[in-house]
Amino acid sequence: MIEQYVSHDELKRLLSSLVVFVGGILIVALFAFIVVPGIRNANKPAAAPSITPPQGETGWLDLTEYPPSKGAVLPAIDPKEVLTATPAMLDRGKVLYAQNCTACHGVQGRGDGSGGAGIRPPPRDFTSPDGWKNGSRLTGIYQTLQNGVKGTSMAAFDTLPKRDSMALAHYVQSFGNFPHADDPKEIEEFGKQFAAAAEVVPPRIPVSMAMVKLEGEFQSPPPLGVARASDLLRGAVEDPERAALTLREDTSWRESPEALARAVVGGAPFNGFSTSAATLPLQQWKELYSELLGAVPEPERK
Ligand code: HEC
Repeated sequence: MIEQYVSHDELKRLLSSLVVFVGGILIVALFAFIVVPGIRNANKPAAAPSITPPQGETGWLDLTEYPPSKGAVLPAIDPKEVLTATPAMLDRGKVLYAQNCTACHGVQGRGDGSGGAGIRPPPRDFTSPDGWKNGSRLTGIYQTLQNGVKGTSMAAFDTLPKRDSMALAHYVQSFGNFPHADDPKEIEEFGKQFAAAAEVVPPRIPVSMAMVKLEGEFQSPPPLGVARASDLLRGAVEDPERAALTLREDTSWRESPEALARAVVGGAPFNGFSTSAATLPLQQWKELYSELLGAVPEPERK
């Protein structure tokens, strides 16, 4: 068919020039999209790998990045103090609400905080009696704060002290001009937990800080400096690196020379110390003890 219009040789020539043409375009494209950008970026320093701490579900309101706080033991609470919406409770609730809740629930409690826009389901409107899953009674709100609402961006605020959770519950109720239907019997029963026992608030540190600390702990301590040590210590240590690790991991030896002897002899030789240490008299353990106390830095308080 096509031979009618072009000869066989002509066709071959056409085809090969087509191949050359396409090949040329491919080479130009290779330069344009891969080689040239490559050359452009060649002298730029590689971007530093950024280590971002894992984000809480809410991102901008990162629950894993709260400020560090010391632990405490709070005394038992008189239920009467927390079950009624006293001005003191409401004041405390207001402060906590502004810090923790306004972003989603809004200053007026209408569920219209700027951070809550677009969240599905939307943050609860505290001014309306509708839609409460755990209920708008004190017990319901308290439960929401303890457990959050699963599958939504309402997280648990279970690290708040009980008194603070109650302050928030009262403050949340204060937005709603409708009966919250608290049942006096239920409230009385509920109140018992506050009087029951002192509350322990554990110390908290943000996740990013914990990660840095963990990293430090996984690094081996420097080996025991036996070069400048007494003959006694040098004789007792078989593996300076392992010995340093042993003394860091189990700090019970710091109590007394006897404790040191127990720790060293019990694990030798796998703990880096020599089995021959078992034969040392108490006097020499005392010398070893004071030398090691000076040589091994006290672990950081956590
Ligand atoms: C990241 C946004 C966000 C923050 C911050 C937040 N909430 Fe919520 N909250 C929600 C959402 C979303 C819902 C609705 C959940 C649903 O519909 O199941 C909700 C629901 C609630 C409810 C109603 C639960 C029910 O029974 O249906 C209460 C009470 C509540 N939040 C209290 C608080 C308090 C108090 C704070 C501050 C300590 C707070 N929330 C902080 C998003 C948030």
